[in-house]
Amino acid sequence: MSSRTPRIAEPRPTRRSLLRRRASAAALAAGAVAGLVVTAPGATASASAPSAARGFSASPVAAPDISVANVKAHLGELQSIASANGGNRAHGRPGYKASVDYVKAKLDAAGFTTTVQQFTSSGSTGYNLIADWPGGDPDQVLFAGAHLDSVSSGPGINDNGSGSAAVLETALTVARENLKPAKHLRFGWWGAEELGLVGSRYYVNNLPSPDRSKISGYLNFDMIGSPNPGYFVYDDDPQIESVFKDFFASKGIPTEIETEGDGRSDHASFKNAGIPVGGLFTGASRAKSSAQAQKWGGTAGQAFDRCYHSSCDTTSNINDTALDRNSDAIAHAIWTLSAGQTDPDPGTVFENTTDVAIPDNGSAVSSTVAVTGRTGNAPATLKVGVDIKHTWRGDLVVDLLAPDGTAYRMKNSSGFDSADNVIATYTVNASSEVANGTWKLRVQDVAAQDTGYIDSWKLTF
Ligand code: TRP
Ligand code: ZN
Ligand code: CA
Repeated sequence: MSSRTPRIAEPRPTRRSLLRRRASAAALAAGAVAGLVVTAPGATASASAPSAARGFSASPVAAPDISVANVKAHLGELQSIASANGGNRAHGRPGYKASVDYVKAKLDAAGFTTTVQQFTSSGSTGYNLIADWPGGDPDQVLFAGAHLDSVSSGPGINDNGSGSAAVLETALTVARENLKPAKHLRFGWWGAEELGLVGSRYYVNNLPSPDRSKISGYLNFDMIGSPNPGYFVYDDDPQIESVFKDFFASKGIPTEIETEGDGRSDHASFKNAGIPVGGLFTGASRAKSSAQAQKWGGTAGQAFDRCYHSSCDTTSNINDTALDRNSDAIAHAIWTLSAGQTDPDPGTVFENTTDVAIPDNGSAVSSTVAVTGRTGNAPATLKVGVDIKHTWRGDLVVDLLAPDGTAYRMKNSSGFDSADNVIATYTVNASSEVANGTWKLRVQDVAAQDTGYIDSWKLTF
């Protein structure tokens, strides 16, 4: 049109709003509208990409359930290792190195980068096992660990096969789920804890101080399957503590603050270096009170672990429920504190990129997309990606038409929306529609002067 006035000089919203009122009424009458339509935040302007294009879901994924059967299978292996090596897995004894080899092989096979760090204590070689999960911010390291050594008087299945196996299974689950955390994840299995936190202290003392300052938190798990269990949370870094407490609260499990010897496990090595720490514990040789037996069950007046540091700390010395709950709590903390994200299913995209001109103030036009190879109905959150180039998008009414002709209104006309283009991803509840068939994007320009075309559109199933 030759009489077009430069937009910048024209008080258009005011003048055109009269036209608009007519047009909107016509548009509303134009088609049946069904279903819930939510406009994506990316709808405002061509500058912002549809959120689906980013490739990651916006919020952290929920932690998976850790298989207690898998954790117990690791405990069975550690028990066998002890049985084959004089009944223990103690520092300086062959059962310890065999334990390291077992855990390392699992981690290597799952894609971790493992490192064995050697040290000497009481004249014997000790080993720490470190496993890094590739990726994440190297300046923000979330670390979880457990001591892998037993005392020499027993196989150390609760102390601390339990923490070792649960951390191992959590790491293997990270790999299975292909977790892509914002933070870098590191896992550690410490040697010679029973000689006085020797391995973890060696690790921390030999970390260059820039690396120390990159550890945003260390989570410790030492004895988490005690046979007469309590649910104790370390009262240390408040953020870590509340992540654990929230987990147990959400399951209706009461917790208490850990008081059976602060500093008696490997978290003390990290805490002494100024690193925020936290952890879980189900109790050692202290007796369960009657109040504790009331809230947690079990036997009052009896030790949380009657086999603590004894030959009877075998696979029979485990409370499966405590092991299960604490294993899930570990995963919850790692997923939450690392703000992990997994690759979302990118979905199957059906797209039409052929331009379709939209006549000015004219009849509706449409562009089709043939969906094939699906079974059943369309999703309740069908993503409809729309790319319409137009010089006044308020003119446009946009519907999605299902194969049976049902119309889903995605956008109404508006006399006040003078922006260019409709570049947006709409979410349509299309769950009552059969997926396969010919879908249409129907666009009508209901007001004179500005024009445009459908550039492309797509459905993501
Ligand atoms: N670390 C001790 C051991 O291995 C067990 C223990 C006692 C403990 N009190 C604790 C562990 C408090 C964690 C927190 O023998
Ligand atoms: Zn111990
Ligand atoms: Ca127009």
